[in-house]
Amino acid sequence: MLTLNTTILRNKQTEMSVAVYILSTVTGYMLTSALLLKCPGLLHRRRKETFISRHISHRGGAGENLENTMAAFKHAVDLGTDMLELDCHLTKDEQVVVSHDANLERCTGTDTRVSELAYSELPSYLCKLGVTFQRECFCEGGEDTRIPLLREVFEAFPYTPVNIDIKVNNDTLIKKVSELVVKYDREHLTVWGNSNNQIVKKCYKENPSIPVLFSLPRVLQLLGLFYTGLLPFVPLKEQFLEIPMPSIISKLRGPNRLNRRQRLLIWLADILLMRKSLFKHLTDRGIQVYIWVLNDEEDFQRAFDLGATGVMTDFPTRLKDFMDRNGISKPQ
Ligand SMILES: *[C@@H]1O[C@H](CO)[C@@H](O)[C@H](O)[C@H]1NC(C)=O
Repeated sequence: MLTLNTTILRNKQTEMSVAVYILSTVTGYMLTSALLLKCPGLLHRRRKETFISRHISHRGGAGENLENTMAAFKHAVDLGTDMLELDCHLTKDEQVVVSHDANLERCTGTDTRVSELAYSELPSYLCKLGVTFQRECFCEGGEDTRIPLLREVFEAFPYTPVNIDIKVNNDTLIKKVSELVVKYDREHLTVWGNSNNQIVKKCYKENPSIPVLFSLPRVLQLLGLFYTGLLPFVPLKEQFLEIPMPSIISKLRGPNRLNRRQRLLIWLADILLMRKSLFKHLTDRGIQVYIWVLNDEEDFQRAFDLGATGVMTDFPTRLKDFMDRNGISKPQ
């Protein structure tokens, strides 16, 4: 009887010490994680930004000029934009062109692919294009309906940072873009990548001195690390987090076009993604946070309140006015 009691007692003691051990380890982990989340400098050397953008013109400002045209880029740069966001494809004769879609139907009315035509054969843009991130909005451009070469953008705006979306997983395209960035001495003025992780990996491998953005799988990984408390311990190769603000989807589609489940999903994505403490941690590590594609003042306000570094917009004038009125200064 007595021995049995001691055994139970011993087992109880072991259980207790295991529980105390687990509890202290978990507490220790949580405290360390919280501390490093707030002070990442204790573990990671801060990445030095070679430029910082607050005001980013999406496709050059697709709401004010035809997207991805020289006229759009010029207008945005004249306005004082900090960065041009644009998209690249490769033509049949291996020229890097600035254009969003692989197929030219939406923008030019011609149902062919950029990769099937030589640069000289590319059709012009239609004079009126839908603005992807603004509901029921069309942009009527001016004279400039030409698809430009990436080289022309680099030549015209040698000091403006450019965000390059590599639209296709094509080694030649990646190589050519890297060559152009090097040739025009713009490694310190460029960020490149795509939502596809294969493309970002290839970009980084091709030229690790050009900063890359987080691909979609890497954004999901980042969130996983953040919510398990592991993020502060993990080194990151990307220098830019470029994410949508999920709440704009309801505005874009019209609230009545979405069913309950879709609305719930958007709400959840918005809560998970739009985290002030996540943005603060990343920006403290020298990783910039850009939010796309915002075209309303309330969304500009929300993004800057959350601590985003910059906002991508189709309406550069609107964002400029907002920043001027609210004293959001240009980065140093
Ligand atoms: C890359 O693009 C070029 C030009 O459009 C094309 O000739 C080539 O086949 C593409 N390569 C791959 C791997 O898709």
